[in-house]
Amino acid sequence: MHHFEYRGDELFCEGVALKQIAEAVGTPTYIYSHATLERHYRVFDQALKQSGKPHLICYSVKANSNLAVLRTLIGLGAGVDTVSRGEIARALAVGCDPKKIVFSGVGKRDDEIEFALNSGILALNVESHGELEAIERVAARIGVRAQVALRLNPDVDAETHPYISTGLTKNKFGIPVAQAKEEFRFVRAQKHLDVIGIDCHIGSQLTKTAPFLDAIYRLGDLARALAQDGVQIRTLDIGGGLGIPYKGDGGETPPSPDEYAAAVTLALKAFGDLEVTLICEPGRVIVGNAGVLLTRTLYVKQGEVKNFVIVDAAMNDLIRPAFYDSYHAIWPVEKRPADPIVCDVVGPICETGDFLARDRQLETRPQPGDLLSVMSAGAYGFTMASNYNTRPRPAEVMVRGEEFFVVRKREELAELWCNESVPAFLQNV
Ligand code: LLP
Repeated sequence: MHHFEYRGDELFCEGVALKQIAEAVGTPTYIYSHATLERHYRVFDQALKQSGKPHLICYSVKANSNLAVLRTLIGLGAGVDTVSRGEIARALAVGCDPKKIVFSGVGKRDDEIEFALNSGILALNVESHGELEAIERVAARIGVRAQVALRLNPDVDAETHPYISTGLTKNKFGIPVAQAKEEFRFVRAQKHLDVIGIDCHIGSQLTKTAPFLDAIYRLGDLARALAQDGVQIRTLDIGGGLGIPYKGDGGETPPSPDEYAAAVTLALKAFGDLEVTLICEPGRVIVGNAGVLLTRTLYVKQGEVKNFVIVDAAMNDLIRPAFYDSYHAIWPVEKRPADPIVCDVVGPICETGDFLARDRQLETRPQPGDLLSVMSAGAYGFTMASNYNTRPRPAEVMVRGEEFFVVRKREELAELWCNESVPAFLQNV
């Protein structure tokens, strides 16, 4: 459910015509619906109540880190899942309670660990023995006790794109379950580590509940075994990963938040009567369908074997199609009488991989100047954008009711090279 709908022939986000935003802000522009963000968060939060456990939603900042998006979710009670010092700092900048921040990632640097510890976050989700040693060393140096959770690799197949599968032993993430007891013993012997829980994240854009169930069962078995060893787990972080429908009717059908929560609730039985707080790290399911990328058609080119609709958004603005061969629906901002075309929707970048859609049937052949809305672009859209081809990244706009707000202005060209310099020896050549 989202709030991008046609009123007559015109596409609106809540009460604002997308055309109006294009005229005021230009294109390409990401547009986020505040009401959709709120709705997605509330539905997810409500669904988790059926688990019967206290829960904390740590929204995964990497999906969309715009301050206005973060503030919206934090205002609704969310904490955050972060993977860098920068993400922690962003969340703190918009008033996130440090006690609701978790810090994941396989490659935390000492300065990042120190920043996290000094910020007093809830937990560092630790992914290796070396990282435990690093945290102990940094915590001892600054004189604090570090709260850690062990991220475990449950070796389950998330059945998603291989680049976004993370829960198999061949992936770089987490500590093997078989090694967990040993690591817990190590942690207990350290003076500056306080282990609060266990964690896993098996992948992203999951469209089935079974892999989540398998992973939680495995963690439950481990938690019971640890309890027998006298180690009490207080938090169970099950990561993110719930998929969204990108294709609409007839496409993938991921479980609803309710179905997901029902599966989680069932799997939690593996924890017996252990008292745990459930932590979830959803990203895509909260923001994915709350955002679109608005772009304008530049040319329609008839090749010898293909039609190309050339638009002003490119792979630097939305890399998902090029990187994962992902599908994003493309809707006309103004509906016109049917005049179907099968085409590649491509950007101006000098790479054959620069496409937003391939062999796509559009109901109406776009004309130069026509606006198109690339749907479901709220997650991993702007956050993965780059300046490739020295293109300023898109502006970002948030719509709330009848109003819209520029929540990130378009980059100026000079900003793109303001940190570069030409050394003296090159100045007179
Ligand atoms: N927690 C951890 C530790 C993660 O690594 C991720 C995503 C999440 C939570 C949130 O997962 P979500 O609920 O959004 O599926 N760029 C890719 C997705 C990469 C996901 C990386 N980790 C894409 O565009 O599909």
